[in-house]
Amino acid sequence: SQRLRMLKRQMECRSDIHRLIAPLLAIYELLIPPEEERAKQNQLLALLEKLVCKEWPKAGLYLYGSCANSFGVSKSDIDVCLAFNEDINNKSEILLKLADILRSDNLQNVQALTRARVPLVKLMDPVTGISCDICINNILAVVNTKLLKDYAKIDARLRQLAFIVKHWAKSRGVNETYQGTLSSYAYVLMCIHFLQQRRPAILPCLQGMETTYSVTVDDVECAYFDQVEKLRDFGSSNKETVAQLVWAFFNYWAYGHDYANSVISVRTGRIISKREKDWTRRIGNDRHLICIEDPFETSHDLGRVVDKFSIRVLREEFERAADILQYDPNPCVTLFEPY
Ligand code: CTP
Ligand code: MG
Repeated sequence: SQRLRMLKRQMECRSDIHRLIAPLLAIYELLIPPEEERAKQNQLLALLEKLVCKEWPKAGLYLYGSCANSFGVSKSDIDVCLAFNEDINNKSEILLKLADILRSDNLQNVQALTRARVPLVKLMDPVTGISCDICINNILAVVNTKLLKDYAKIDARLRQLAFIVKHWAKSRGVNETYQGTLSSYAYVLMCIHFLQQRRPAILPCLQGMETTYSVTVDDVECAYFDQVEKLRDFGSSNKETVAQLVWAFFNYWAYGHDYANSVISVRTGRIISKREKDWTRRIGNDRHLICIEDPFETSHDLGRVVDKFSIRVLREEFERAADILQYDPNPCVTLFEPY
């Protein structure tokens, strides 16, 4: 009966769906950070560069995550990577030293979290009011940040869809990896993959094209076509609006996705099978209940945080969203109601 419901849904979206375009775009516009925020971020980055350079002249600082991938909403914290040109065995020592340097320059709430999964230093800059996390040698994150940013330049609908999905996930409490739901990074990959799958496609598969950018990081080769200015018209034969795409996105994750067998893969632009990846059974803590392949670290399933309980929470939230978009008289309010 679920399959019947799904087929019926996929054929007939509500007839007044176009009425949702303006309110969804209004929400998107409100979420976009104003230009002043960028200036403040650069001001803080310049200060950090000055401090770091004094102690480690050969190190570099890079922004990654939502402050640099173009999927950041207003007032986000910033993520910074301190990169050395060599492997660092003792990150704790460097982080503790860094924390001392930052404290003596009057940065606030400085904390070195040396035992976290990704060890880092947290701080708050009283001048700009921005909070910031600094980690060490997380170059893959810097590279996947560039990939996301490049995808966003191809078609404006990716940012629109991803902002709405992230806003929904935060409002509904399903953007908490420590509670077994998904990271923002995972949601953006779900959006990219979804737009690669539309017919006609709205996004290409950059890793399946000629290589124009290539780096090797931690033995992982990261290569793809990054001349995205040449792809500005890529999705133009697909005329779907943000309203149709938001509807179809939730409909897919509620009633269309084959959770038992499928892995979504931005790297290939296709669905691949769990069997092919040997993600069919639980290994350690990886249960593979919803499978999202990292585009570069292909052995990473970004759904690995999801457990028996949280998969139900997630799927019920996808169904709730799909049902609201289909039937609710005021979906742009109900969709984001706090849980
Ligand atoms: N990242 C990663 N692997 C993960 C999770 C995150 O490589 N499993 C990296 C990605 O580069 C990502 C960054 O860490 O862009 C930050 O992750 P996250 O906080 O999930 O995303 P943000 O885009 O910063 O979202 P938010 O606006 O919620 O802060
Ligand atoms: Mg972040």
